[in-house]
Amino acid sequence: MNTTMEKKILIIPGDGIGPEVTFWGKAILEQILSNHDYDVTFDEGLMGHVAIEATGNPLPDETLNKAKASDAILFGAVGHIKYDNDPTLKVRPENGLLGIRKGLGLYANIRPIILFEELLDVSSIKPEILKGTDILFFRELTGDAYFGEKKRSEDRNSASDLMIYHRYEVERIAIKAFEAAERRNKKLCSVDKANVLESSRLWREVVQEVAKNYPDVVTTHMFADNASMQLIKNPSQFDVVLTTNIFGDILTDEASQISGSMGMLPSASIGDGTGFFEPVHGSAYDIAGQNKANPLASILSAALMLDITFGLKDDAERVTNAVHEVLKQGFRTADIATKTTEKQKILGTKEMGKRIIDILRETTL
Ligand code: IPM
Ligand code: MG
Repeated sequence: MNTTMEKKILIIPGDGIGPEVTFWGKAILEQILSNHDYDVTFDEGLMGHVAIEATGNPLPDETLNKAKASDAILFGAVGHIKYDNDPTLKVRPENGLLGIRKGLGLYANIRPIILFEELLDVSSIKPEILKGTDILFFRELTGDAYFGEKKRSEDRNSASDLMIYHRYEVERIAIKAFEAAERRNKKLCSVDKANVLESSRLWREVVQEVAKNYPDVVTTHMFADNASMQLIKNPSQFDVVLTTNIFGDILTDEASQISGSMGMLPSASIGDGTGFFEPVHGSAYDIAGQNKANPLASILSAALMLDITFGLKDDAERVTNAVHEVLKQGFRTADIATKTTEKQKILGTKEMGKRIIDILRETTL
């Protein structure tokens, strides 16, 4: 039998803890895909601060071309403290990430807020409030003030970022979000600031129109300020949350605290072609190279790739179950450890990664 399918995966480790955690996301992909009839080729690309250092460009043409030619990308993180403290620097690592999102047309950023029972006490929110929470964020990724025209006055004393949305941009992500809501608990909350912003009034208008095609889904609209409060007050009220680029950026960082740590959250960015999979966390330079980073967000991002790009739902679930199992056994990286439970054992990045691989090997045999 020769039904081997060729697939190309591009690994973009990036900056800070990016390479350490991506190593394990890749290891998971190798482990799972070796049991399937795929002929997978892995390649690597530079992006972010490391790319600026090597080429002067945060997103070298070579990386973008490789990205366009691949079926899926596993990305680590970009960013460096040097740029954070100097806003005058024009060439910035983040431009690599924004450039690849735009270049690949990755308009929908999907961020599941996964709540592992074992981590209920890690969150700063009370366990009884968290219980039952399962949110799927759809953050728009190629519009808003992120990509609208940016200006600085000649005297340098005024600046603006145009917050702009086009009907088609709202429509296409709304459709994805409604489709997901139909497969889940049939509730969709669209978050905007339509009481103040014209771009949000367009957003709401379009979402209301799209909603008509999904009569089974209960659609609600919430202002972003209220949504940020409701996420802490009563997170289990949400199912699918659909929102703009900037509100989604902020709300998903906030929502990461529901799962206990940014180190637990994966994400998938999709458009019409290549899928892009990345942890929600950043480059975390303070702990880079110290074997302290939590590889689980990268591992769970690899699981999302198995599901979305390869259609391997069962394998994706096996990876999530392996993460669950390791947490059940009491193993933690520092970011998800609590002082209260004695049974916990703190692991480094490598040791945590190895544990997950071992469980996957055992369950394959
Ligand atoms: C994210 C990040 C990025 C964003 C940065 C690194 C440009 O915070 O993916 O949430 O703002 O989108
Ligand atoms: Mg962010």
